[in-house]
Amino acid sequence: MWTQDHELFDLAHVDTVTVGVFAWALTQPAPDVYDFTTLDAIVERAAAEGRDVCLATGTGAHPAWLARAHPEVTRVDFEGRRHRFGQRHNSCPSSPVFRRLSAELARRIAARYAANPAVVAWHVGNEYGGACYCELCTAAFRDWLRDKYRTLDRLNHAWCTMFWSHTFTGWDEIEAPSALTEHWRGPDHTAFQGITLDYLRFMSDAMLANFTDEKAAIRESDPDTPVTTNFMGMYRPLDYHRWAPHLDFASWDNYPPDDRSAARMALTHDLMRGLKDGQPFWLMEQTPSCTACRDVNPLKRPGINRLWSWQAVAHGADAVLYFQLRASRGASEKYHGAVIGHAGRADTRVFGEVAQLGAELSRLGGVSLGARTPARVALLFDWDSWWALEISDGPSRLVRYQQVVLAYHRALWDAGTDVDVVPVTADLSGYDVVVAPALHMVKGDLAQRLEMVAARGGSVVTTFLSGRVDEDDNAFLTDVPGPLGTLMGVRVDEWDAREADVVNPVRLSAGGEELEVASRLLFELVIPQGADVVGTYRADFYAGTAAVTRNTFGAGHGWYVAAGLEQDGVSWVMRQVLDRHGLVGPYADVADLETAVRVAPDGTRLLFLLNHAAVAVEVPACATGVDLLSEQQIERGQPLSLAPAEVMLIKCDGAPAAP
Ligand code: GLA
Repeated sequence: MWTQDHELFDLAHVDTVTVGVFAWALTQPAPDVYDFTTLDAIVERAAAEGRDVCLATGTGAHPAWLARAHPEVTRVDFEGRRHRFGQRHNSCPSSPVFRRLSAELARRIAARYAANPAVVAWHVGNEYGGACYCELCTAAFRDWLRDKYRTLDRLNHAWCTMFWSHTFTGWDEIEAPSALTEHWRGPDHTAFQGITLDYLRFMSDAMLANFTDEKAAIRESDPDTPVTTNFMGMYRPLDYHRWAPHLDFASWDNYPPDDRSAARMALTHDLMRGLKDGQPFWLMEQTPSCTACRDVNPLKRPGINRLWSWQAVAHGADAVLYFQLRASRGASEKYHGAVIGHAGRADTRVFGEVAQLGAELSRLGGVSLGARTPARVALLFDWDSWWALEISDGPSRLVRYQQVVLAYHRALWDAGTDVDVVPVTADLSGYDVVVAPALHMVKGDLAQRLEMVAARGGSVVTTFLSGRVDEDDNAFLTDVPGPLGTLMGVRVDEWDAREADVVNPVRLSAGGEELEVASRLLFELVIPQGADVVGTYRADFYAGTAAVTRNTFGAGHGWYVAAGLEQDGVSWVMRQVLDRHGLVGPYADVADLETAVRVAPDGTRLLFLLNHAAVAVEVPACATGVDLLSEQQIERGQPLSLAPAEVMLIKCDGAPAAP
């Protein structure tokens, strides 16, 4: 079968394979027995066939003997139940036995294979995530808190424990959050926001320590080969910005829930690229056809795997891989899509499409490798704000951080502008526009840095529920939006949260343009302090008052969107902003035709056109150059026709401009 696999890999131009992700029980069948016979054969074969290997440490799931010998390696859930052996990602991050043995396995694997030139990357663990609430984690949490706060006084102050008589007088009194200490409705319904927020931070750090344990073990025998782990995009439990400095490159697994997720995938790619300051990432996994983990698992339609793979490249991927290469015969994922199915055929539609893409990528060669996205727009993404906003009691559990971020990114995506999705600590000095949706928590000198963007002529956009709390999740003792108030030129006096079916229309008007749009869920009542009113509520006792404002600050603007505008309203606001900076893309009015630009280290400008629409689109070319996929010369202004799911990759002679 391996012989057949390699023949088929050649046909499909598969040049890189990730191996060993769940091989712990295979490589360490008993406490004192390490057996690399099978892994040796796999790695040697791949190397002999000329393939690169992304070699996993194999610790994504622990072996049964380990759980039997040390029951504390399995996790305790939020309800307080100790999990038995089973599932995967079931290791307690604080278990000393798990930490010792996982690092030891990584150490031995690295020592054995580091000298093999086929190994181009190390893949630690797998999709870190979830949480554990056991006694070991509780003890580790207390240590983490001691490190952070030093004194109980500081901790009590940060957590505002005077409220509800929660004052701690000894470190051992502090419990991990659980169904036994929180509201009964689940981890988001906290009775104790300080502790819940810090536990999220702690758990992210605890799992990061598992990663760094293994990375350090690898570095004992291999100082250079890059080390990564596969992230999951917008994944709430882990603060990937806290992780990113410890990875040598970012990689992630793209399994969108449906085939209408092009904008969402674009955001996620931009977020992953932003983890390492714009450095290219790997698309570590995607299915060539369908998933198996959902209740209903639709097939990727013809051309979609190719389109989405190119979309990843367009947004900064330097590698595109699949899970899985050969379909597992049994167990959980035997129906998950594979490049090679159970019958081992090369004449399936899926294999054919994978092979076509492989051939295109081979033809492209190294042109796009190392290329950067020349974005003038930054969108701030902040796990702390995500957590603080969603664990908060009030104003509304219907406001979801991701949905707000998605709407603002969607508006930018529709407008066809390249966007960097960056942490709040990022250098903002190179951007014309900075968008900070639902920036609930404002930390450090962020407010000043945003003011500097506007002062030098840039535009800063923020929304309802921004500038509410400090790093400890305590309210600023000032008007809302706290430290953003001066830049925005407003103060928020009250706020109203309503059920999803309640609409308050907002009339928007600027530069002679008028539009009435719906807003829902959250309505802040704004008293302008110098800002111009761009949109007003049309209903309720606050009809006629400000819902969207624009403040002149230095040579630029601070925009405040106080209402939960629906997508057309968000898009209208963002168009106003982008227009001012000449950042509306050439096909902003062509629905679902995506553009993205990458600039290679030698200055080569690559323009990607991706048709996500179900219909063909006809547009004039916005650049002169060669389409590297069809090898045709394109002249600016010439009519282009892109079939559904069609992709063009134009190596531009000059910068693309409006036709
Ligand atoms: C994740 C995992 C893989 C596989 C896929 C598909 O990305 O890393 O092991 O389970 O999901 O479900």
